[in-house]
Amino acid sequence: MARKEIAKGIYAVGAIDWDIRDMHGYSTNRGTTYNAFLIIDEKITLIDTVKHTCREQLFANIREIIEPEKIDYIVANHIEMDHSGCLCEMMELVKPEKLICSTMGKKVLLDHFHREDWPYEVVKSNAEISLGKRTLQFLETRMLHWPDSMFTYVKEDGLLFASDAFGQHLAKSELFDDEVDFSEVMYESRKYYANILYPFSPLVKKLIGTIEGMNLDLKMVAPDHGVIWRSHIADIINAYKDWSSGKAENKVLIIYETMWESTRKMAYAINHGLAEYDNLSVSMINLKNCHYSDVVAEVLNARALVIGSSTLNNGMLPSMNTFIYYMKGLKPFNKYTAAFGSFGWSGEAVGLINSICTDLKLEVIEDGLKNKFIPDEDVLAQCVEMGRRIGEKVVAGDQQ
Ligand code: FEO
Repeated sequence: MARKEIAKGIYAVGAIDWDIRDMHGYSTNRGTTYNAFLIIDEKITLIDTVKHTCREQLFANIREIIEPEKIDYIVANHIEMDHSGCLCEMMELVKPEKLICSTMGKKVLLDHFHREDWPYEVVKSNAEISLGKRTLQFLETRMLHWPDSMFTYVKEDGLLFASDAFGQHLAKSELFDDEVDFSEVMYESRKYYANILYPFSPLVKKLIGTIEGMNLDLKMVAPDHGVIWRSHIADIINAYKDWSSGKAENKVLIIYETMWESTRKMAYAINHGLAEYDNLSVSMINLKNCHYSDVVAEVLNARALVIGSSTLNNGMLPSMNTFIYYMKGLKPFNKYTAAFGSFGWSGEAVGLINSICTDLKLEVIEDGLKNKFIPDEDVLAQCVEMGRRIGEKVVAGDQQ
């Protein structure tokens, strides 16, 4: 079934992936969509393709509107395989006059598909191509989140095809932000930002400034995943401003993994100290029960991370190891951290956590609290005190 006409003569023809639950380590609990769009004009143009496993949906959606062979131009805003997985098949069938991509897009396409003979049309920022009644304007968005990434703007419709930016892994039959639950779409946007765009925050911040400076008459922002923004464009742009500038809420995460419950007891005692502050949100996150890609969605707007692990084989427990190295790659910033954990004889975990947080240039605000085997009342009281000190610092920061 063809999806919908999103503006006169412009159709959503992408695919819904209801089944996917893992996107190279990102837990896609609500599935996703691979968005592609067809513009019917004097030059019929396809914006992006879809993941190979979903190609039948794309071809069927296009065929409900026109025969694919009639497509004149294909725009490849982003080459990652969820958007180019069936590009070879599409190129063979369509034989387009132009394959429009950024400078880096051509390089990445060649590295993927090794086709020197394709009709590349390389466009730089602000370049324009007329489709007849409409004009496409391009904006290179290098490293957001790949070198090839590019936006395509349909000037006459105020429609921005934003590639992976502003996306959400959210499978929905609805197409627009105002047709779905707003809190769900904003949560999935936050999770998407945290897992995909967080390391590139300085570039995101710059890009938002560039977009605002262009004074575009934005009526729709169509990402490559999830719903299209039309009623909440300002909300998502403001959220990107907050996330890319490291704005934090009065929120503390106690993220821990425990071996024989001792580290867990310490975590609960720290929480006891934090609970004395009314205007503080605290979440206890046991990594045995939570996926690391969900946890980083909480890290994004948290003010303080209190991280605990028992020591195992001179290191951290496995889930903590996975989480902390995943988080390290996302380059979090503007956060306080503190570490704690139990041990039997060597006790390296706390030092390792502090060392990684220091490398990340996070502000380590406590020396770290270690406990040998099972914590007694004195150690638990020290944990409560540590929680109080962290809470005081977070709340004081909020009042500055
Ligand atoms: Fe949705 Fe970077 O691919």
